[in-house]
Amino acid sequence: MDEKTESTWLETPDPQLFINNVAKFSDLMMMYRCVIREVQTKLEVLDDEFSVEYKRNPISFIKTRIKKPESIYRKLKKLGYDFTAENIQEHLNDVAGIRVVCAFIDDIYTVANLLANQDDIKVINVKDYIKNPKPNGYRSYHMIVEVPVFFSKGKTPMRAEIQIRTNGMDFWATLEHQLRYKKGIEEMDGYDAISDELMRSAQAVIEMDNEMQNIKNMIGRFHDI
Ligand code: GTP
Ligand code: MG
Repeated sequence: MDEKTESTWLETPDPQLFINNVAKFSDLMMMYRCVIREVQTKLEVLDDEFSVEYKRNPISFIKTRIKKPESIYRKLKKLGYDFTAENIQEHLNDVAGIRVVCAFIDDIYTVANLLANQDDIKVINVKDYIKNPKPNGYRSYHMIVEVPVFFSKGKTPMRAEIQIRTNGMDFWATLEHQLRYKKGIEEMDGYDAISDELMRSAQAVIEMDNEMQNIKNMIGRFHDI
């Protein structure tokens, strides 16, 4: 960071400026918590309605998180931007994160389409890592959405990242994340073998997801499910 300006947050020598900036950051994080609540409610409504109609829940659970200040700072820095409220809103899509874990693969697309078709949701970007898994075996359906949130000062469009996956995909991704983020693991002897093994375990999860989906399709020929 070079020039210190009104909107630059770190290393401000003026305590009053620092206090104002902290207040501005807290305000922005409150706004991200609100968009999470809004999207979470939309998801719960869909799940509730579906459970009345079909006597089962397509959503197993929902987990949400707000990106930590250090991660926000690091990501902005990587992208070449100062740590300011404007830059966070303009350049980061994943400050508000919502993870939706579904029972079956087709539930993922049902939930994604029902959300995308709501007229106050604008889909900014979709990455379908289920149809196109990442080379390491990672699968999930990612959406960046923009939702208007109503505050006293007016309506503000807020962005959120939604990751939709099956229990199997979530199980794999959570363990892979734990293993992969061990410090220095990439330089370790035998890292290639570990990667191969992770890829094989992803394959096993794909087979199980597909098998459960087939069973659901077989039952679906006789009952609405
Ligand atoms: P980030 O800079 O990490 O946010 O990536 P991106 O902007 O290219 O977005 P992408 O949609 O590819 O990934 C966003 C998020 O998906 C990550 O922050 C993780 O939560 C999750 N994710 C993506 N790839 C992997 C992976 O290989 N393993 C695991 N466990 N999670 C992943
Ligand atoms: Mg991210």
